Amino acid sequence: MSMHSTSTVSYPRADVDPPSGSLFPHKHLLGIWGLDPTSIKHLLDVADGYADQNRTANKNSSICAGLTQINLFFENSTRTLMSFEIAGKRLGLDTISMSTGSSSIKKGETLLDTAATLNAMHPDVLVVRHGDSGAVKLLSEKMDCAVINAGDGRAEHPTQALLDALTIRRRKGQIHGQTIVICGDIAHSRVARSNIYLLNAMGARVRLVAPPTLLPKDVDRLGVEVFHRMDEGLKGADVVMMLRLQQERMKGAFLPSLREYYKFWGLTREKLNAAKDDVLIMHPGPMNRGVEIASDVADDIDRSAIEEQVEMGVAVRMACIDVLTRGLPQRVNADKAEETKS
Ligand code: CP
Repeated sequence: MSMHSTSTVSYPRADVDPPSGSLFPHKHLLGIWGLDPTSIKHLLDVADGYADQNRTANKNSSICAGLTQINLFFENSTRTLMSFEIAGKRLGLDTISMSTGSSSIKKGETLLDTAATLNAMHPDVLVVRHGDSGAVKLLSEKMDCAVINAGDGRAEHPTQALLDALTIRRRKGQIHGQTIVICGDIAHSRVARSNIYLLNAMGARVRLVAPPTLLPKDVDRLGVEVFHRMDEGLKGADVVMMLRLQQERMKGAFLPSLREYYKFWGLTREKLNAAKDDVLIMHPGPMNRGVEIASDVADDIDRSAIEEQVEMGVAVRMACIDVLTRGLPQRVNADKAEETKS
């Protein structure tokens, strides 16, 4: 049974003056909150082109040659960090990933002093992951260049939501009208929050399935339907997104045991029978097989899009870097040179 009915949610627009003619009138990408559907669609359209280009032999371009990208990750990452590095390199940027473990942060330098230090080196793009919600926005206020949020605390992971949206759009043809079920540890998940904002903005029907202890406190204000049973939440689903249990963010007891969690909320073939036959199975990774998802479901070659999500991650991150650096003097010259060539 649905515990909350879908409500109309009004999404705020970012308070920036759009540069004339820009379809993405934002200096930074700090979250999906504040982006209107036109901006989201523009990023997805640009990323779609990169996804096609990445499947050809000519994956690289030099449109961002001469620009510098710094990746600053305060939390572990495989997919996001690697794909931002690859994305920057494919566009011709000089990319540098700063290891926070061996930086002066270990000597007590604050986040804001670190930001001021990096800003003095004149990067053109700064990609940041941080364990505290709001830390990336705080840092962006000290930077002259474009800042991209690669995940901040429980708040947002906008490029993950964009790559998920691109995967759905390419597999299902559109996002509008799809019934998309997000299952698992919603409370601690920045992926879930960014996806809820994006999918609602693009007209999907969003359902959450989770035990009451793993739902965020503000769930009533998210414009979603909430279920506590998988068989009810998955009924007629077009897409199911499973989430990892974020035990590193849990303080206290949220679950009886992992075995019991799998029994009630782990995605198995049997539970999937409630969804549509062509349901798309997604997971942002990293996965805990046998905890939130059965191996045979994760590896289902017909229905699982998990590896495609990773592939779309590179395309989406190329699009974000491309769009945010348009208008920089180096880009204007490179774009003119590209136009002359074609
Ligand atoms: N999905 C995701 O953010 O994965 P990583 O932590 O490996 O970057």
